[in-house]
Amino acid sequence: MKRIILTVCLTIATVCVMAQNTIKLPEPDKNVSMTLYQALQQRKSVREYSSKEFDDMKLSQLLWAAVGINRPDGHLTAPTAINAQDITVYVCRKDGAYLYEAKENALKKVSDKDLRKEVAANQTFAADAPVSLVIVTDNAKFRGGSTNGPTISGAIDAGYVSQNIDLACEALGLCTVPRATMDKDALKKELKLSDTQTPILNHPIGYKK
Ligand SMILES: Cc1cc2nc3c(=O)[nH]c(=O)nc-3n(C[C@H](O)[C@H](O)[C@H](O)COP(=O)(O)O)c2cc1C
Repeated sequence: MKRIILTVCLTIATVCVMAQNTIKLPEPDKNVSMTLYQALQQRKSVREYSSKEFDDMKLSQLLWAAVGINRPDGHLTAPTAINAQDITVYVCRKDGAYLYEAKENALKKVSDKDLRKEVAANQTFAADAPVSLVIVTDNAKFRGGSTNGPTISGAIDAGYVSQNIDLACEALGLCTVPRATMDKDALKKELKLSDTQTPILNHPIGYKK
């Protein structure tokens, strides 16, 4: 009997810890009024952000646009070479760093640290944005799966995701800049990336100052 009670308690504790480390995002509202051509007309890089935070609905809309699932068969909003789906997006903010899980529309915590300074590196303006998205490619998703840095296809795939983020920011009244600058070694360690994963681009995102 004691053993059963202990097992039940341990299971409950494990579920509670898992729940704490996962944030379920609201279903993204896809009825955004700005047209694609309006967003294209307005898109520009912005490097000054107000400290005002944006809500989880906007984050959910952004992440869905970046690399969300848009078809019942699991295909994504951004194309990937041979449908490798090699791209993952990490969310870095004050309360820690999270992996975006598209299937669950949830954020899985990977670090308790605020990594926005590591994302900013020597471009300190980037750390002012309340959120930084880091776009990571995984060579293991391509034939060969080498650890010698990203494949050309991986870099191109990251570019598509980055452009989706750029346009979604315009549509949602947010601003951003795509950046290759970042402390890749620190981010690889803190985001617990595998040897085949490489951060390619990042996006500080916020409201314009
Ligand atoms: C692949 C790539 C890497 C970039 N890296 C940086 C960067 O590290 N820092 C930065 O401030 N801007 C970066 N940019 C933004 C460009 O400087 C910017 O897009 C360019 O000056 C044109 O301005 P616009 O985006 O307003 O049209 C990058 C853009 C691309 C496409």
